[in-house]
Amino acid sequence: MKIQENISLKPYNTFGIDKNARFFTIVSQLDELKEALLFAKQNNIPALILGGGSNILLTQDQDVLVIKNEFKGIELIKEDEENVYVKVGAGENWHEWVLYAIQQNWAGIENLSLIPGTVGASPMQNIGAYGVEIKDVFYELKALHRETLEVQIFDAEACQFGYRESVFKNTLKDQYIIFEVIFRLSKKPKFNTSYGAIQAVLDDKGNADLTIKAISDAVIQIRQSKLPDPAVIGNSGSFFKNPTIPIQQFEQLQSVYPTIPGYPQAEGVKVAAGWLIEQCGWKGYQDGPIGVHQHQALVLVNHGSGDGKKIAELSQKIQKSVFDKFGIQLHPEVNFL
Ligand code: FAD
Ligand code: EPU
Repeated sequence: MKIQENISLKPYNTFGIDKNARFFTIVSQLDELKEALLFAKQNNIPALILGGGSNILLTQDQDVLVIKNEFKGIELIKEDEENVYVKVGAGENWHEWVLYAIQQNWAGIENLSLIPGTVGASPMQNIGAYGVEIKDVFYELKALHRETLEVQIFDAEACQFGYRESVFKNTLKDQYIIFEVIFRLSKKPKFNTSYGAIQAVLDDKGNADLTIKAISDAVIQIRQSKLPDPAVIGNSGSFFKNPTIPIQQFEQLQSVYPTIPGYPQAEGVKVAAGWLIEQCGWKGYQDGPIGVHQHQALVLVNHGSGDGKKIAELSQKIQKSVFDKFGIQLHPEVNFL
């Protein structure tokens, strides 16, 4: 295991923020991961596990050991008439894994095409898009406890998945490093085209046969039309979660703002944070290199040499104006570091 010192994290976060890590190492096997955690312990510094860096905001230099996860491998471990169970290394790129599954005709994650980042981070916030979350295809994961260095298996129930939530962001925060995920995918696809513009894009293309590849292509097309490509404009996807508010509050807002988008949930109505932010006049806002994306107000952007602290300050101003106008508190989806 090679440990480097004072490494810029700019290439390792999709916001493109230039902050340094005091120590930096890459691991691809369990014994390397254990060795890295021991190094951090001996040097009395925290360890920070990083995948694709697509859901973090670096607000300062990191006086830590950054452990870049490159556990690789995709292996079919069992199958029955309906399903395949596939073990995937936590450092595999999420979208490449989706494309691989589609190639094998394994269904279930096609709606999650083009989400940046790694397989190992996918259970952290139960990634979701276009009507599917990983909890729908998750079987179990293996994670290493940072202190005891013991391996523990978590099934779906133990992960306590919710909307952009899991046990690893809450009661078990900073305790485990996920190094392997097993997915249960389907041999008989159940197509999910009801969400957003998927059906409209499919109709437009006029394809006779519905396939998981066609759904993936449609999702990719929609995402590319809305979300900035981090290789061109720094960003971390949706900066805030979509808030759920009580139905009475929603109805009250609807009487004043008839176009407010709302999606009924068991506990209330989920409101589109992008709409709330746009109504406050932030869409396309720019302050030097940082700002709010011109096509999607839920995405904060860095056009070049932006500073993470400034982006954090901008996010607070947005939260305040949304609260002042609508009485709704936005909560970040992005992890501040
Ligand atoms: P990182 O940013 O590296 O890490 C995120 C957090 O997880 C950090 O706290 C890190 O310490 C922790 N972590 C990372 N790996 C591990 C591990 N192996 N074990 C334990 N902890 C770990 N998300 C969605 O849900 N849906 C979307 O549609 C979506 N679209 C996006 C679009 C764009 C353009 C971008 C930039 C982001 C988008 N995201 C979306 C957010 C992001 O892609 C996901 O959250 C993704 O799962 C992050 O993966 P990562 O490997 O980059 O995680
Ligand atoms: N909207 C606006 N103005 C905007 C942006 C959105 O009015 O600037 C409105 C849209 O018109 C639409 C509604 O808000 O009526 C929802 O917008 P969109 O379909 O773009 O989805 P989103 O709610 O902004 C969520 C996820 C995305 C995910 C998509 C597709 C969250 C926080 N975000 O975005 O996930 O890809 O749906 O399922 O749940 C991410 O988590 O990083 C992410 C990109």
